[in-house]
Amino acid sequence: MANLLLTKSLDTIMGEATETGEHTLKRSLGAGNLIALGIGAIIGTGIFVLTGPAAAHYAGPGVVYSFILAAIGCVFAGLCYAEFAAMIPVAGSAYTYGYATLGEIFAWIIGWDLVLEYAFGAATVCSGWSGYVLSLGQDFGLRLPPELAGTPGSVFVLYNGHWEFLGRIAKKLAQLGIDPATLPQRHGVFNLIAFIGIMLVTTILVIGMKESANFNSFIVAVKLIVLVIFLGLGSATLLHHPELPTVNWHPFLPPNTGVFGSFGWSGVLRGAGVIFFAYIGFDAVSTAAQEAKNPKRDMPIGILGSLVLCTILYILVALVLTGLVNYRFLAVPDSLAVGIDATGFKWGSLLVKLGALGGLTSTMIVMLLGQSRVFFSMSKDGLLPKFFSHVHPKFRTPWISSITVGLVVAVFASTIPLDALGEMTSIGTLLAFIIVCAGVLVLRSRRPDLPRPFRVPFMPATPILGILISLAMMLGLPLLTWIRLIVWLAVGLVIYFSYGRSHSRVQQGLPPVPSE
Ligand code: ALA
Repeated sequence: MANLLLTKSLDTIMGEATETGEHTLKRSLGAGNLIALGIGAIIGTGIFVLTGPAAAHYAGPGVVYSFILAAIGCVFAGLCYAEFAAMIPVAGSAYTYGYATLGEIFAWIIGWDLVLEYAFGAATVCSGWSGYVLSLGQDFGLRLPPELAGTPGSVFVLYNGHWEFLGRIAKKLAQLGIDPATLPQRHGVFNLIAFIGIMLVTTILVIGMKESANFNSFIVAVKLIVLVIFLGLGSATLLHHPELPTVNWHPFLPPNTGVFGSFGWSGVLRGAGVIFFAYIGFDAVSTAAQEAKNPKRDMPIGILGSLVLCTILYILVALVLTGLVNYRFLAVPDSLAVGIDATGFKWGSLLVKLGALGGLTSTMIVMLLGQSRVFFSMSKDGLLPKFFSHVHPKFRTPWISSITVGLVVAVFASTIPLDALGEMTSIGTLLAFIIVCAGVLVLRSRRPDLPRPFRVPFMPATPILGILISLAMMLGLPLLTWIRLIVWLAVGLVIYFSYGRSHSRVQQGLPPVPSE
């Protein structure tokens, strides 16, 4: 009978971290690359797509408080990730920390749960990305048949001689008094652009880490510049027209309408639940620990640096956006473009759209990178088949793992609606945060002797608060999402008991599979 709570010895884990040679991952990333990797993962759909609707539906300009609240929860979890990533700098992230502290069954559950964060996260972002591509294509007269332009169930109507996505023109039709049911309708079957998007990113990942990191740094620069231009043009406009913020920021927190979550402080809470998606990704830095040149010093810098930078940027962007445009008019998918339109700089809108496209691309890269690295680690431990840890002799990337993950994610992105994907991502990520915070508590009491290059401050308050805030945000998610999470974890356990348990290297007292 296998011992489900067997832990992997830290010495073995450290041994893997110092493994070198042709079949290991390349140590090529410095502190700057790691911060870029974090920002690459963090800034995406959240700020470019969700800010406006969160202000319009839940919190008004008080969405700024939602950003602060979600950031506080993430900082507690981020500190715990930083302690682990500096102490155990190997590729698997939360999965590896769980193996070292809580035991094999928990490690498996975390590894399987991380699929929700990284694979579903990449699919969510790609879904948003495909929307921007389709919309830009339309500007140039390029259109796909509805069957290839949306996931199953999405509705397209024939309007003005073109098949339009109903969600996009619903407001316009309502203003014109047209009932969509009176228009000819067709349904989406397969989102082709989302499929192609994931396959393109997968190709970049197979070619190489250094190349991906450079490409990523370039796109990160583009999206940061776009956000800074937004802030520059926006704040200049606010300074020249002080009447705008005077009107738009009053009241800063619109009073509750009597319904929980609709403005007032409960609206700020619900807004935080939605905005939380905007912060997901800082922990992906920890999955690249084995490719960092100096992980002990640079892991905490990468994780916390990217989180703090994005928090500041988000708060400023939310302030400027709600100052420029009244929150009532922000329930649109491209709210930053609407914000920049209000400055009168017409070229700004196209710039923001292009920046959003680049932004979403780098988020996809880091998430897919994280996913294939987690499978890489699980496979080296024998919990997944060996081919997942096969490293390409020339590119030195886990190419089979990347391609397998890429194909599955591409199918998710092209067949599951965006909101379902997003909610699965959030619940999976929050569960991972809780397990990592718990892991820090456990390891501090079991192995207080271990050298910790970075220590979580204010123990045990920090991890406990991290657990409580994450749990509160999880409880805010719909029941259906909880049911899906439980089904997902149950499927994972079936795989573990039918394959992982009998192949586990730790159970057999063997070292991890050497890379080949
Ligand atoms: N934080 C990432 C985004 O907002 C997942 O797209």
